Amino acid sequence: MLRQVLLALILSSMTQLSESDEKALSYNGGKIMTEPIKLSLLWFGNKWQSSGQEALRNAILSLTSTTPTSSEVPTLRKWWEIIRQYTDSSGNPATGNVNLGPQCSYTGPTLNVTVKTIMGIGGAVFNKTLIGKFGSALNCDRVFTVENNTIYHVLFDDGVGFNNSDENGELRSRCSGEFEPIETGGGLVKMVWARKPTGPSDQCSWVISGRSEMGPPNGDKGLDDMIGFVLGNIAEQVTNGDDRGWTDGFHGVSSLCASQMETGDVSPAFVDPVSKVRFNMIGTNAYRYMVQEIWDQRIKNCALQISGMKKSFLFLSKAK
Ligand SMILES: *[C@@H]1O[C@H](CO)[C@@H](O)[C@H](O)[C@H]1NC(C)=O
Ligand SMILES: *[C@@H]1O[C@H](CO)[C@@H](O)[C@H](O)[C@H]1NC(C)=O
Ligand SMILES: *[C@@H]1O[C@H](CO)[C@@H](O)[C@H](O)[C@H]1NC(C)=O
Ligand SMILES: *[C@@H]1O[C@H](CO)[C@@H](O)[C@H](O)[C@H]1NC(C)=O
Repeated sequence: MLRQVLLALILSSMTQLSESDEKALSYNGGKIMTEPIKLSLLWFGNKWQSSGQEALRNAILSLTSTTPTSSEVPTLRKWWEIIRQYTDSSGNPATGNVNLGPQCSYTGPTLNVTVKTIMGIGGAVFNKTLIGKFGSALNCDRVFTVENNTIYHVLFDDGVGFNNSDENGELRSRCSGEFEPIETGGGLVKMVWARKPTGPSDQCSWVISGRSEMGPPNGDKGLDDMIGFVLGNIAEQVTNGDDRGWTDGFHGVSSLCASQMETGDVSPAFVDPVSKVRFNMIGTNAYRYMVQEIWDQRIKNCALQISGMKKSFLFLSKAK
């Protein structure tokens, strides 16, 4: 009887919580990446174009680039400043230095790919001998190394087909995620992933939402969709890599705001009147991007930049 009453109480307080819809993140004492970090990239698939790869790399390097940009359009650096408000237990802010590490490309078979296959390749990139065993299907500019301040990121192109079994389901039903720790020979590492959506009906296709004739900022919709997920992954790993950082117990800085994207509430954007491309952020080297909102703890809301100007730049403008 007592147990039933307790259960009823718990259930009613849960309902109240969801009714008030109070979102908030709190710090749980875990690791925050406060030191300079590197992104080690594993490009998976044989449909990557160098222009797309360059756009993605440029987005990563734009997060903390010190190159000044004069523009009315917010910069990716401003977006990253939201992340820098998240501190560790000593009050050190999240890293202000995001760089690129080694990169590998896997161009072997990409149909019926299983998590096991990916884990095998993910482990091999840490070992020169194992890389060699893949022959021309695996090329690395450098061998990956096991380090604390590195984010290991697998990037799937839209030609990769995942094996149709439950254990690989997340790769098809989600846009990005984490793998179980991978054995590398030098210790376990966690790898995160994002995939390029396969077409307009793919649920990970969010840029523009197909309701406009305006084009994606880098001319490749799937790539522009994916850049948002990669940057979201980086933000999550830096602030909540061990699930004990800044979280509401379920979501982190990026995933807490992801539902706004799913509802088609595409964030405000700028439009180039000539090329008709649509974007909400600029990076270095005049690259343009569409990026999701992230959780800004100061204004207790999702935002694109630290100032809390959330809705005030909700306009379409002639961009330079
Ligand atoms: C993938 O594997 C399944 C069986 O597991 C098979 O039926 C299917 O034809 C395969 N598809 C490709 C493209 O190889
Ligand atoms: C990573 O950090 C842990 C805990 O701070 C430390 O024990 C370990 O030696 C570090 N590993 C490397 C490869 O730096
Ligand atoms: C796909 O995965 C299932 C279950 O793990 C397995 O039985 C099947 O052989 C796999 N197919 C291929 C082509 O790897
Ligand atoms: C690399 O892999 C080979 C083959 O499995 C193994 O013999 C070697 O010890 C590995 N090297 C390192 C540094 O782990």
